[in-house]
Amino acid sequence: MRRPLIAGNWKMHKNTAEALALVEQLLYRLRDKHRVEVVVCPPATSLEAVCQLVSTATLYVGAQNTHWASEGAFTGEISPRVAREMGCKFTIVGHSERRQYFGETDAYVHQRTRAALETGLTPIVCIGETLAQREAGETVEVIRRQVTTALENLIAPQGGGLVIAYEPVWAIGTGRAATAADAQEVAAFIRQLIAELFNASTAAKVRILYGGSVKPDNIGGFMAKPDIDGALVGGASLSADSFAGIVARAGRYQG
Ligand code: PGA
Repeated sequence: MRRPLIAGNWKMHKNTAEALALVEQLLYRLRDKHRVEVVVCPPATSLEAVCQLVSTATLYVGAQNTHWASEGAFTGEISPRVAREMGCKFTIVGHSERRQYFGETDAYVHQRTRAALETGLTPIVCIGETLAQREAGETVEVIRRQVTTALENLIAPQGGGLVIAYEPVWAIGTGRAATAADAQEVAAFIRQLIAELFNASTAAKVRILYGGSVKPDNIGGFMAKPDIDGALVGGASLSADSFAGIVARAGRYQG
């Protein structure tokens, strides 16, 4: 019942011409892959151009970050309202690089998530433990804190209106993905937390992604797990071949 979702996070890669070229290749490669919802998240500098090119339902566009206010004195930030008006359907919130390098806290992640939901953007809320936390046996505690703080006191989102991406920090950009079994264990725990915070029917609808060194040759193992509904892909989303390969393989596992 949950439609698979593959989202590409381009991070700070590609100028506008390069972004448009990649989107054109993807539109061609993905033209008959409607089983999977596919999202690209270009840098803010090419968001508007990409939104204008993507007028079909083959691809959706997401921002990599959005603020909690719709406007104001927040230098360097992106208004969720403006992102929505441009044509974005998704926004990434709380990516570990934002937490690690830009002081993003759980409290900010909560505010950004709330604003995204209120604006009609689907937040892809990123959570995940560091290597030190995993080795200290703190994974469950960290995930509980991140999920609870991000989502508590929010109105239960409708349908596919909320996405959680479990991204263990040690697996991002390292080529060392989590095992599908470990990712499933955390995804099941996240779904249980969502049932506690909202209710069982919301928990059954929220899509939970795995992220961290996803490639065409390992996506199948993740998609085969019952609580993993797709992936947030960094490096492998920067080429049409590898990203379309991931989407094609993910489509074979629709439940
Ligand atoms: P990666 O990045 O696929 O390059 O590991 C994932 C992410 O940061 O979302």
